[in-house]
Amino acid sequence: MGGSGRDSPRFNCANDGLRENLRRLVPNTLPPRMPVIFSGIQPTGTKHLGNYIGAIRQYVEGQDRGDPAIFCIVDLHAITNPYDPAELRRSVYDLTALLVASGLDPARCVLFRQSDVKEHTELCWLLASVTATGELNRMHQFRDKSVAQRELVSSGLLFYPVLQAADVLAYRAHEVPVGEDQREHLELMRDVARRFNSRFGEELLVVPDHRIPVVGARIMDLQNPDRKMSTTGGSEEGTVYVLDEPKVIEKKIKRAVTDADDPPRIAKDPAKPGVSNLIDIMAVARGVSPEQVVADLAQARGYGDLKAATAEAVIAMLAPVKVRYEELRADEAALEQILASGAEKARSIAAQTLADVRRVMALGPPPS
Ligand code: AMP
Ligand code: TRP
Repeated sequence: MGGSGRDSPRFNCANDGLRENLRRLVPNTLPPRMPVIFSGIQPTGTKHLGNYIGAIRQYVEGQDRGDPAIFCIVDLHAITNPYDPAELRRSVYDLTALLVASGLDPARCVLFRQSDVKEHTELCWLLASVTATGELNRMHQFRDKSVAQRELVSSGLLFYPVLQAADVLAYRAHEVPVGEDQREHLELMRDVARRFNSRFGEELLVVPDHRIPVVGARIMDLQNPDRKMSTTGGSEEGTVYVLDEPKVIEKKIKRAVTDADDPPRIAKDPAKPGVSNLIDIMAVARGVSPEQVVADLAQARGYGDLKAATAEAVIAMLAPVKVRYEELRADEAALEQILASGAEKARSIAAQTLADVRRVMALGPPPS
C-alpha cells in the first residue's frame, strides 16, 4: 500500500483548511508530526470487503504514521444489540486474528479489547454531562437500528456515540480512520470535546479529525449497488467476506449487477453505481487510481472483462490474509496475550487523560 504523508490526497480530513492556516499563522501550534491515531471496530459479524477497504487497510497504513496508532475491538459497543455471550468471546478472537492477519503488528501498534480498559466506561459517563439527549436521538444509526430492532431497544444503543467519543478522547487522538458511515458519530465527538473544553476552561481534550479514504469509503453491495455493503442490511451474494474462499469471491464478483448500457461503457458515473463500485474496488485492490483502472480497461470487450479483472485483484489481496488468519486463529492463548499487552499500554495512556478530566471536574480528592 505504501506510506502516505499526513496530507495525502487519498484521504479527507475534516480540518485541512484550518490546519493549513494555523500552520502559517502560529508555527507553535503545528500539529504533531506523528499524530495519535485511534480507531474502533466491532467484533460482530464476519468482516467484509467494505470493512477491509474502508477501515482495516487504513489501520495498517496508519500504524507507522501514528505515535502511537491505537486499535480497539469494541466489545462494549457490541452488547448494545441482543447477542450471544459465548459467541462474543469467539468473535473477539476472530477479529484479533483477522486484524493481525491483515497486517496490524502488535509490536508497532496498540491492539486491545475495549472492556479491558475501564477508563472508557468511566469517561463515557463523565462526557454524558456535556452531551445533549437531542443530539443522541437524532443520530441516523440510532434511528435506523432502533427501528430495525425487534426486541428491546436498549439505552446502550442511544448511548453508543458517547462511548465512542470516550474511546477516542481518552487517548487525545488526532486522527480517526473510519468509513463514510461514521461521519456523524465523529462530528458528535468533536462537539463533545469542544463543549467539554469550554465548559471546564482548559484545552484538555483534543478535537479529533476523521480520516475517510477518498476511494473506498463506501463500498456498495454487489447485488444492490445503491446500498452499502453490510452484514446486516445487505444481500449474501452481494457481500464479499474477507475470509471467503477464492472461488466464492470469484463467483460473487462475476455475478455483480452492472447495467444494460449497449455498448457497455466502463466509467465512473453516478448513473452507473455497479460499474463505479467495481472500478473503485479494483483500484484499491491494485493500489492504483480509478482513472488508471479505466485507462487499463480501455480495450476491454465488456463488463465481463471488468469483473474478471476485479475478481483477480481482490483474490490476490485477500487470499494471503485468509492463510495467515487460519494460522493465528488456532492459538487463542497467543491472541489473548496480544490483547492483554495491548490493554496495558492503552490503560497507561487513558489513565493520564482520566486524571486530568477528574481534576477539572472536581471529582475525587483534590490534587496534592
Ligand atoms: P463495523 O464492522 O460496523 O464496526 O465497521 C467497521 C469499519 O468499517 C467502520 O469504520 C465503517 O465505517 C467501515 N465500513 C463499514 N461498511 C463499509 C462499507 N460498505 N464501505 C466502506 N467502509 C465501511
Ligand atoms: N461505531 C464504530 C463502527 O460501527 C466503531 C467504533 C467504536 C469506533 N468506537 C470507535 C470507530 C472509535 C472509531 C473510533 O464502525
